[in-house]
Formats: sequence, structure tokens, C-alpha cells
Amino acid sequence: MKITILTLFPDMFSGFLSESIIKRAIERRCVDIEIINFRKYSTLNNHQVDDTPYGGGAGMVLRLEPLVSAIRAVKTPDSRVILLTPAGKKYDQEKARLLSTCKHLILVCGHYEGFDERILHYVDEEISIGDYVLTGGEIPAMAISDSVIRLLDGVIKKESFENDSFYDGLLDYPQYTKPAVFEGHEVPQVLLSGDHQNVDKWREEAALLKTKERRKDLLE
Ligand code: ADE
Repeated sequence: MKITILTLFPDMFSGFLSESIIKRAIERRCVDIEIINFRKYSTLNNHQVDDTPYGGGAGMVLRLEPLVSAIRAVKTPDSRVILLTPAGKKYDQEKARLLSTCKHLILVCGHYEGFDERILHYVDEEISIGDYVLTGGEIPAMAISDSVIRLLDGVIKKESFENDSFYDGLLDYPQYTKPAVFEGHEVPQVLLSGDHQNVDKWREEAALLKTKERRKDLLE
């Protein structure tokens, strides 16, 4: 898979690309990530990318021309172009799974200002990572890339994400590690028993209970 990120702040991605599982996924060629500063597609003096809103009002609006030129420069018939905006459809694990089957994702990040609404003619969909407003689409682009990349073949063991929260529509079961007692808080006995059938049964029930208690909406 290839992921192209269009942004005005490419340096925000350096830590994301150079650490841990994402770094390894790139080294193993499970994913190719391209970060492009779309400012270079502005044909205005000093590469201006925004302008004042028609109709007046506070703030600036991202101009169409650099964004559309950047999208056109990187788009292929295999690309899915995604605009990151709090007005988009809310992102979830099901969507991550869907996107992980795409050949090429183009993630378009705004910053500070809004997009000219006509950008919607040039993208396939709008995604929000939640009902809160960030200063730009860079963190959403990292969140989406991260959640997609970990599902790609060869990135993490399949068993690892089969136990994920949301994998089967439920939250993950509770996990414990040594010591068996910490400041009086004990690990459930069944997990120390070595009886794998009982452990599996307990985990299934515990995942269901946890989901019922915290996220009833997932069961509906
Ligand atoms: N840009 C700013 N806030 C955002 C959000 N919640 N989701 C996606 N893009 C954004």
C-alpha cells in the first residue's frame, strides 16, 4: 500500500515515520509513505496557500488551486482521496479495515483554516477522527495511517489484532502480567490455572461484560 499525505507541515510527521512499528513497516516495504508539502503547488507570489473568505468573517480559507494541483499530481486510478475535516464521517475500526484494502490513500490535511467547500468536487470522501476540533489534519492523518498500517500483511502478527478491541464488535478482554498480586490487587485466578479452555471462556465473557458496562452502543 502507498499513503500520500498532503500537508503544509511535513516536519510534523518525522517522529511518526521514524519510530517503532511504523518505522519497521516502512523498512519491510509493507507500506510506502510519501509526505508532500502542497505549498509548492501554489503559483502565487511567496507561495501563498490561503486567502480571505468571500462574504467576510474571521480567519483564512485554503485556496483550491494548490490543493487541486497537488491531488492531480499524485492521483492514479488506484487512489482514494480523503479530506480530513471535523465535518467528515466519524472514523472507526470498520473503516480502518476497509481502507487497509486500498492500494493508494491520499490524505489531505488542512491547517488552522477551513477548506474552500468546492474541494469536495476533488475528493472521494471526508473523514473526522472525532467530535472535537484540532488545529489541522496532520494528527488525524497519523491516526488513520497508524490504524491502517498495523492491519497490513507482515506488520504485526495476525493474532495481535484478532484480539483487538472492536475486532469482533466488542472491546478487548482485560489483560494482566506479572506480578500476580500488586498492592493487594490480584490477577483473576483462572488466568493462572493453565487451563486454556477455561481461559478462553473467561476472556469471551469478560470482553462481553466490559463492552456491556462501558460501550452498550457497540452491542446494539
Ligand atoms: N481537522 C481538525 N479537526 C479534525 C478532526 N476532528 N478530524 C479530522 N480532521 C480534523
